[in-house]
Amino acid sequence: MKTISVINMKGGVAKTTLAINLADCLVRRHSSKVLIVDVDPQFNATQCLMKPEVYVDHLKSGGDTIVSVFDRNKRAVSSTVNAATTKSAKKAEEITVVSVKPKLDLLPGNLELYRLEMAPGEGRENRLNTYLSKLSKENTYDFVIIDTPPTPSVWMTSALIASDYYLIPVKADPLSLTGIDLLRSIIEEKIENFNLNIKCAGLVLTITESSTNVYNEAKGTLTRDIHWKKFLYKATLPKRTRIASRQIKQMHILDGDCIDSKTAIANITTEFFNCVAEHE
Ligand SMILES: Nc1ncnc2c1ncn2[C@@H]1O[C@H](COP(=O)(O)OP(=O)(O)OP(=O)(O)O)[C@@H](O)[C@H]1O
Ligand SMILES: [Mg+2]
Repeated sequence: MKTISVINMKGGVAKTTLAINLADCLVRRHSSKVLIVDVDPQFNATQCLMKPEVYVDHLKSGGDTIVSVFDRNKRAVSSTVNAATTKSAKKAEEITVVSVKPKLDLLPGNLELYRLEMAPGEGRENRLNTYLSKLSKENTYDFVIIDTPPTPSVWMTSALIASDYYLIPVKADPLSLTGIDLLRSIIEEKIENFNLNIKCAGLVLTITESSTNVYNEAKGTLTRDIHWKKFLYKATLPKRTRIASRQIKQMHILDGDCIDSKTAIANITTEFFNCVAEHE
């Protein structure tokens, strides 16, 4: 099992879009079994994978979310027998995931992470790693893809601690490019502080408009960059409004009829697959 964090501290660079479509393409084109873990309190990946009413029912029926991984405190819950009683924190083996479709599962996100971040929680950044280590031993999945929030937080740190690789989507514009060196220094700091063994699985240009000067300049800059040039994927994810309008209806890029987007995500996934295979 290989775990990959899709990460960038810049917002709106297609982290979520890349995470869910990479997962879908690994399932469809590479026969992989994949789990998506949504550690972003905005839970956009979950919104792209579960219909709103299904998600609400899931929460109402006490279904697990990422909060089950991070919340280790006993919680007061109402009870008809006692006025209040306590509910034990879940053990890793008690957490169940949602089946999105054959070979694609989801541990849904939860807005409650915003509240949980404010509450004390010793060792919280290691809990996702503990949970995924248990899954790894069971050999259930080929890949776990973690969709991360854009802000540095305990959730982002926990994703890095739990991952073998990080994949960076980046928008082809000058401001976005300045952000990736900052991201690199933050990741290097985490590697040192937590003694991590995490590798870069690539840099993907996203929401691209190939005819524009900003795109060509950004691509040129990365192709010449001494550090990033070896990580830059040949395939890019083109800007297509239909990707945005369909994902909220739980449709993936491969479900659509836009040939160039489908080719793009297939090629990105192949580059990713080859990169990970190379490190085996
Ligand atoms: N290739 C694309 N073409 C057009 N729109 C896109 C494309 N990829 C993503 N989008 C849209 O751009 C917006 C940002 O994408 P997304 O949510 O995937 O980014 P993100 O990096 O996860 O954002 P955040 O930092 O808020 O988590 C969304 O509205 C999404 O639908
Ligand atoms: Mg996102």
